[in-house]
Amino acid sequence: MPLEQILEWIPPGSPDAALAREVDFARLPAHVAIIMDGNGRWAAKRHLPRVEGHRAGIDAVRDAVETSARLGISVLTLYAFSMENWKRPRAEVSTLMTLLKRYLRLELATLLRNDIRFKVIGRPDELAADVRRELARATERTAGNSGMQFNIALNYGGRAEIVDAARQLIESGVTAAELDENRLASCLYTAGQPDPDLLIRTSGEMRVSNFLLWQIAYAEIWVTDTLWPDFRCRHLLEAIVAYQKRDRRYGGIEPARHTSGAR
Ligand code: IPE
Ligand code: IPE
Ligand code: MG
Repeated sequence: MPLEQILEWIPPGSPDAALAREVDFARLPAHVAIIMDGNGRWAAKRHLPRVEGHRAGIDAVRDAVETSARLGISVLTLYAFSMENWKRPRAEVSTLMTLLKRYLRLELATLLRNDIRFKVIGRPDELAADVRRELARATERTAGNSGMQFNIALNYGGRAEIVDAARQLIESGVTAAELDENRLASCLYTAGQPDPDLLIRTSGEMRVSNFLLWQIAYAEIWVTDTLWPDFRCRHLLEAIVAYQKRDRRYGGIEPARHTSGAR
């Protein structure tokens, strides 16, 4: 998308507009993955219950999805709920699920309007029936879209994903001699999608927390102290500008010519 079109929806004279001018739209990351962290801390700072942080985080999700689609990102993956997050208090887990259902119901029109294709990655079978129904509806209704692929990682674990892929390979009768990286990648939840070029984590934590372990082999990592509910277009643009200044070498000594999807 040309810069002029992008500047149409960014307030003129804002920091976002200045950042947008710094972005090279011919070298966007094809796949951006985000570990949305810091909702609890956002709420604690305001002396609010943790769930209020999750509620506020929904606005950041909306912003990230729409901004990414408008910028022309091909794949956006948001980490919404890890397999380890079941350890949280029951009431918090239940609020997260309710917020997710509401988000899907309210935002389906936005997804359709922006030509976004929705997909869940993780183990949805272990989710409650009402959540699964909402997820299936959004997946089916957006299946024909050809714009941005929007993955939501839900009941997701990076190690579990690799185990699921191995199980599928065994069931398909693949032999040891036939097995290679491409074959395994074709059984991951993200089969057919480019690996993340840019991995963003909010709230300052320097860890990957079991997210896309296989796929982030050569992702550029960008961590911000901004807490997830405060994350907006400006932060995404900042991450992209920082990403475009990196030298991606893939083990060689020269920066790769094409930054997106190169291996
Ligand atoms: C991220 O915020 C949301 C989820 C993991 C679902 P947290 O709830 O982890 O917030 P902090 O890390 O406790 O601040
Ligand atoms: C990672 O955040 C999971 C999601 C963003 C869904 P956590 O808050 O659960 O991660 P840790 O516990 O700090 O590693
Ligand atoms: Mg956290």
